[in-house]
Amino acid sequence: MEIQEALNWTDDLIFAKTGKHLDSLQRSILEGVWERQEYKDMAENYHCTVDHVRKTASELWKLLSDVLGEDVKKANLKSTLERIEFSNISNFGADMQILSNINICSEICPYPKAKKAAKNRSPTSTTNESEKHQDLTEAPEYDRIYNRTAEITTLKQWILQENIRIITIFGLPGIGKTALARELVEQIQDNFEYIIWRNCTNTLALKSLQTNLIQFLSQNTETKLPSPIDYLRSHSCLIILDDFQELFISEELAGNYLPDCRNYGKFLKEIACSPHNSCLLLLSWEKPTEIATLEGENRPCRSLQLGSLGEAAAEILTNKGLTDENKWGELIQLYGGNPSWLNIIASTIEDLFNGSVDRYLSYPSLFLGDLEPKLEEYYQRLSASEKLVILWLANQDAADIFHKPADLALSDTDFLKAVQSLRKRGLIEKASDNRSLLFAVPVLVKNYLKNR
Ligand SMILES: Nc1ncnc2c1ncn2[C@@H]1O[C@H](COP(=O)(O)OP(=O)(O)OP(=O)(O)O)[C@@H](O)[C@H]1O
Ligand SMILES: [Mg+2]
Repeated sequence: MEIQEALNWTDDLIFAKTGKHLDSLQRSILEGVWERQEYKDMAENYHCTVDHVRKTASELWKLLSDVLGEDVKKANLKSTLERIEFSNISNFGADMQILSNINICSEICPYPKAKKAAKNRSPTSTTNESEKHQDLTEAPEYDRIYNRTAEITTLKQWILQENIRIITIFGLPGIGKTALARELVEQIQDNFEYIIWRNCTNTLALKSLQTNLIQFLSQNTETKLPSPIDYLRSHSCLIILDDFQELFISEELAGNYLPDCRNYGKFLKEIACSPHNSCLLLLSWEKPTEIATLEGENRPCRSLQLGSLGEAAAEILTNKGLTDENKWGELIQLYGGNPSWLNIIASTIEDLFNGSVDRYLSYPSLFLGDLEPKLEEYYQRLSASEKLVILWLANQDAADIFHKPADLALSDTDFLKAVQSLRKRGLIEKASDNRSLLFAVPVLVKNYLKNR
């Protein structure tokens, strides 16, 4: 097993368990162990203390031991991963279902369709063709999606193995929420009797959504049940609500419902708290407030913040025929690996810079082309307090929220509320150093705000 393979594989495992990727120190530790280095060498390479490396390593071994169900430590890491990988290849489909679902190095989502009934999604999960009902008329179609293998593994684990009842996929516009959910539905459709996809841009009021759902879910029964939750209990249903942010008020803190949509909160709570074998998938720019509360109460709800496509975004640039491949990494990083933003700017580069990424990046000021109005519209959605905080953050590399500037006209509480709200939008990222927790704005948003 090569080191890169081991890193990808471990990253997939950890992501499936925690929803978080390996951070840079964890990766350095794995690389160091692979090369038989001592902790002190790793600390030197990483410019931090040996104690910090030792502590991070010990947490990592504990996490890996939990995931793999056996004792993992520095001394046996390599042999353990190699043995499991070998048995995974030669015993595909045995009882380690998570492992057998992970494909180590494919860039394009590689799963076969989920034919097998989920262990915990029973007894309705072995669904015959005649029992399957789908309304995907509002679900857009995509050709291929790249590099969402780890996210799909996690979502399948949550839905098929852990019977999570509400999942929110949230993140910046264009980051690929709808494309990911569409691919997921493709792969798990055989596990549900009813699948319905609705876009909140078309149906806002809960009452009309409920009528719509009941109409669809009752197509095979003579008597209609009073509420969608009754159907969720008696059948395995997957409901996808896309563009959920349409239900929230603009220019207020994230996750505040429009007056006509306030009853959604109660609807979500009911779905999370009453027993059933169905799943509601929300796709949104903003994480709904009650989802955070329900997660805090350990209800079967989870959320996944969707981030950069990483190096795989290079496929987008290849498809557009751009040149100067050595500069692509810089472009992808600048655009936060956002596939939609990269598609837009790639067209501009093709048109104005003859496809040369180098010339585009060397241009004296940042030119965003058709993306600019989209960023402005998104910025205008923020509340006044969020605008103050994000402008402050945009003017530095990363900031410790403990040190609120004295001239920021916000009380301490309003300041933290604004920070929390920006986190719910995926608009500020955590960037730790050894001692404190720092927050930073994604590079492109930062550059846009600075030049605005
Ligand atoms: N994993 C991916 N690989 C390649 N292209 C992708 C991927 N994900 C998304 N895209 C492309 O990026 C564009 C935006 O994707 P998508 O519509 O899924 O974003 P979104 O997060 O749902 O955006 P919005 O919040 O505005 O609804 C689409 O053109 C899609 O084809
Ligand atoms: Mg979308």
